[in-house]
Amino acid sequence: MNVEKLREDFPILKKPIIYFDSACMSLKPRQVIEKVSKYYTDYTACAGRSSHKFAHEVEIQVAGTRKEVKCLINAKRDSEIIFSKNTTESINLIANSFGLKPGDEVIISDKEHNSNLLPWLKLAKKGIKVVPVESNEDNTFNINNFEKAFTENTKLVSVVHTSNMDGVTNPVKEIVKIAHNNNAAVLVDAAQSVPSKEVDVQSLGVDFLAFSGHKALGPTGTGVLYGKKEMLEKLDQFLMGGETVVDSTYTGYEPEELPARFEAGLQNYAGIIGLGEACKYLKKVGLKNISRHEFKLNKMLSEAFADNEKISILGPKDPEQRAGIFSFIVSGMDIHDVSGMLSASRNIMLRSGAHCVHSWFNKRGLKGSVRASMYLYNTEEEAQAFIDELNKILKF
Ligand SMILES: Cc1ncc(COP(=O)(O)O)c(C=O)c1O
Repeated sequence: MNVEKLREDFPILKKPIIYFDSACMSLKPRQVIEKVSKYYTDYTACAGRSSHKFAHEVEIQVAGTRKEVKCLINAKRDSEIIFSKNTTESINLIANSFGLKPGDEVIISDKEHNSNLLPWLKLAKKGIKVVPVESNEDNTFNINNFEKAFTENTKLVSVVHTSNMDGVTNPVKEIVKIAHNNNAAVLVDAAQSVPSKEVDVQSLGVDFLAFSGHKALGPTGTGVLYGKKEMLEKLDQFLMGGETVVDSTYTGYEPEELPARFEAGLQNYAGIIGLGEACKYLKKVGLKNISRHEFKLNKMLSEAFADNEKISILGPKDPEQRAGIFSFIVSGMDIHDVSGMLSASRNIMLRSGAHCVHSWFNKRGLKGSVRASMYLYNTEEEAQAFIDELNKILKF
C-alpha cells in the first residue's frame, strides 16, 4: 500500500492538516467526488418510477452499488442490502420493525454508541428490558457476563463490532454462536469495522449488520442495513411511502419485495452511487492492508506513551486490539484543552468528548477522552508529529 500515492486521490489533503478524525467522518477520494458530481451533471433523475434514459441510468448505478456492497461484506444476495441514511437509521429500522413486545429482552454491551443504545431505551419505556453486558477491566468483551445475561425472554442481541470509543473489536462470531444457541437474533453495529477490516457477514453468521458510508470513504447521508433474507422477510415495514408497496387502496396495501419495501421515498441517489465507488476504492486498496496500516500507526502512538504516567489509554495495552483508534486522557488536563492545543499548534484534527458513548463515561464520572483515529491516508510522519506535539503539551 503506497500511502503517498494514495494521498494524491484525496484533494482535501492538499491543505496543511493532520486529519485524525476518521472514526467520525472519513475524507473522500476524487473518484467518489467525481462520481457524485457526474450524477448531478449528467443524469439527475430518480430510480424505480420514470421510464426515461436518465432514470434507467440511475437504476443501473444504484443496482451497481448494491452489488458492490454485497461483495464488500460478502452477503449472499443483492436484495439483502438495504440503503439507509446512516448506521443510526439502520438500527432504528430494526428497533421499530423486529416486533419486540413488553417483557422481551435485548442484550447490548456497556460500550454502545448512542445509536445502539437509545433506540432500545426508547423501547424500554414500553416494557422491553435492555440488558447491558459489563466489559472486562481492560474494556474487552466479557463472554461469561454475556452468557449469563440470557433468559428465556431474550429475543435480540445488538452489539458494536469495533468500538468508536477505544477501538476494541468484539468477538462477533462467538457472540452469534451463543445468541443463536439461545434462540436470539444478532444485530451488529459495524460503523467502525466495515471501513477498516474485512467483514464477512456469512462467516460471522450475523442476522443483521449496520454501517455508514460516510466513514468508509463514501458520501455523507449514506448507510446500509444488511439482513439475511429470511430475517428481513419477517420484519414489519418501518418508514412507509413511495416504492414500499406494490399497490394500495383507501383501506390497505401490498408490500413490495426486498429491498424496496424498506427504502421509502426518493433516495439519496447521488450518495448511493458515490458509495459504490467508495466500495471499489476500498477493494482496490485492500482491507487487510488498511487494518495493517492502522495498526502500524497506532503502535507508534501507543509505544510512545505506554510508560507515560500522565497518559491513560482507553482499552487494552496492546495496540493490535485497538484498530486505528488511540483514545486517551491526560491527567490534570481538560480533554478539550488538549485537542485545542493540538489543533492550534499543528492543525492536528481530532475529537474530544464522550464520542456518543456518554453512558460509559458517566458511569465512571469522566467527561470523555481525546481520540485520534487514523485511516488509510495517514502517514508515519503525521503520527510522529502527533507524538512530538503531545510531548510538548505534557512538558508544558
Ligand atoms: C460505533 C458507532 N456506531 C454508530 C455510529 C453512528 O453512526 P451514524 O452517525 O453515521 O449513524 C457511530 C458514529 O460515530 C459509531 O462510531
